[in-house]
Amino acid sequence: MIRTLSKYIKEYKKATFLTPMFMVLEVIFETVIPIFMGWIIQYGIKGNNETGDMPYILKMGGIMFVLVILAFVSGVMGAVFGSISSCGFAKNLRKGMYERIQAFSFSNIDKFSTSGLITRLTTDVTNVQNAFQMILRMAFRAPVSMIFALVMTYVICPEVANIYLVAVILLSIALALIMLAAKKYFTQVFEKYDELNETVEENVNAIRVVKAFVREDYESNELKIAAGKIYKMFVKAENAVILNAPVMQITIFSTMLLIAWFGAHLVVSSRLDESQLIVLFTYSMNILGNLMMVSFIFVMITLSQASAKRIAEVLSEDSDLKNPENPIREIKDGSVEFKDVSFSYKKDSAKPVLSHINLSIKSGETIGIIGGTGSAKSSLVNLINRLYDVNEGSVLVGGVDVREYDMTSLRESVSVVLQKNVLFSGTILDNLRWGNMGATEEECIRACKTACAHDFIMSFPDGYNTKLEQGATNVSGGQKQRLCIARALLKKPKIIIFDDSTSAVDTATDAKIRAALKSDAKDMTKFIIAQRISSVMDADRIIVMEDGEVNGFGTHEELLQNNMIYKEVYESQTGANADFDEAKGGEA
Ligand SMILES: Nc1ncnc2c1ncn2[C@@H]1O[C@H](COP(=O)(O)OP(=O)(O)O)[C@@H](O)[C@H]1O
Ligand SMILES: [Mg+2]
Repeated sequence: MIRTLSKYIKEYKKATFLTPMFMVLEVIFETVIPIFMGWIIQYGIKGNNETGDMPYILKMGGIMFVLVILAFVSGVMGAVFGSISSCGFAKNLRKGMYERIQAFSFSNIDKFSTSGLITRLTTDVTNVQNAFQMILRMAFRAPVSMIFALVMTYVICPEVANIYLVAVILLSIALALIMLAAKKYFTQVFEKYDELNETVEENVNAIRVVKAFVREDYESNELKIAAGKIYKMFVKAENAVILNAPVMQITIFSTMLLIAWFGAHLVVSSRLDESQLIVLFTYSMNILGNLMMVSFIFVMITLSQASAKRIAEVLSEDSDLKNPENPIREIKDGSVEFKDVSFSYKKDSAKPVLSHINLSIKSGETIGIIGGTGSAKSSLVNLINRLYDVNEGSVLVGGVDVREYDMTSLRESVSVVLQKNVLFSGTILDNLRWGNMGATEEECIRACKTACAHDFIMSFPDGYNTKLEQGATNVSGGQKQRLCIARALLKKPKIIIFDDSTSAVDTATDAKIRAALKSDAKDMTKFIIAQRISSVMDADRIIVMEDGEVNGFGTHEELLQNNMIYKEVYESQTGANADFDEAKGGEA
């Protein structure tokens, strides 16, 4: 995990290296200062003559002043480099994760969930950034400072140093126990964060639906529950961490008392100088203060461990769709063949979503696909441009297995108008060109005419330069669908797939689009998934999907003759026999 993350320090290696260096320098200067203090008292004030040795005091005072400045400068430099390296590290992590996510396949994204990825990109990176800075600045400084101070106290008075040692050991044990308890809760907090983000994302995305159904209260409640869970976990974790402070205080003050008591005895019996006792006190503050720092570092590490793990998971996740060694870039034609294809979203699920599909489709054919929701129509077509890989069998495009193609070339040639499609914020023209940067305005207009989008676009005051808002909220559902169709057409693919792409378009326009496609997109192989039988009945052949299997495949006339499902749907939708449905109900 550390190795995965540390690769992203990249250009900030120098700053990362300099931070602890400056911090250690600061420690060295700080540790030396009390020695001069001791000398001033011992030789300057208490020296041989009554009035003290003023020049000596000034000289030592001057040196101390310079040391303080040096310590200060080192501290500031350490802080500056610490910020540079930690912010840079966070930037690289986000960039790295974002690039990985772009390479993810649909099933990779399914695995992490969108909201999970957002938490990882935001909160988790921030945690790691803070911890990284803390570690760079303190993880070297605190122990080094503590060891220096301990050595110095041993030199001055071993008996007193032993008190520290015992205190340090006892305190370390107490802190370790506290951290262990806190760690358990912190790990759980982040899972709850995912839940919270999921609720927020879903709700904000669907805010119009929520309002339409007057479900604000219910949704607020959902958020309250998710936020409440985080609150509980955090309180538990913080409760454990907060024990740090009293434990620290008790140790510090009892150590001070012990040193005062013990030191006083030593001074009285002339085994210790007063000046040395003062120096010892200074070091004791130093040691215990650093111990407090160490405990704080432990909190940070514990907190960030869970986050670091979650970031590393994204960074080391391999896209499960890979380009082959020697990819084929040329797609010969738009023929499609399914050879005994089985597929499921989760590799270990008992029942496959698609089982044993065999289909052979010629280039240029128009294929209708009909079937109930969940009958795996979308799953079937998503295999053609390799959004998912099959579990068994193979899908051939242009006579070649899709896994042998370069993925970009394949997806250039197979255009899908997804069931859940999005337009981006920007002008209509930007959105149309999104699939094909080089498209001329004329080509855009022609595609829009085919998709029956030209007329409504021209009715906007700004025409093709009309700005779409995020989520295309300023056009209707049917208009959005037609823009998506035009965008897909502009890629001039060999195969074009419409996954329920005209569900929000009225029947007359739907028919117009199909007629236009017939003449303008003659050479393309067209797949039309639809709920309405009228959308598919004039296709060359029609696939009837039922529960992940091909129930029928043929022309409209053939299916009417020999496919029960098709016949039923046809009759119920065309109303050719209104009573038929009920009569039929008993038989089916
Ligand atoms: N991304 C996904 N992850 C897991 N299961 C899915 C996913 N998409 C669809 N499914 C499941 O696969 C089955 C077929 O879905 P789908 O192909 O979308 O059907 P249709 O398009 O005919 O409505 C359904 O049972 C659905 O729950
Ligand atoms: Mg579907």
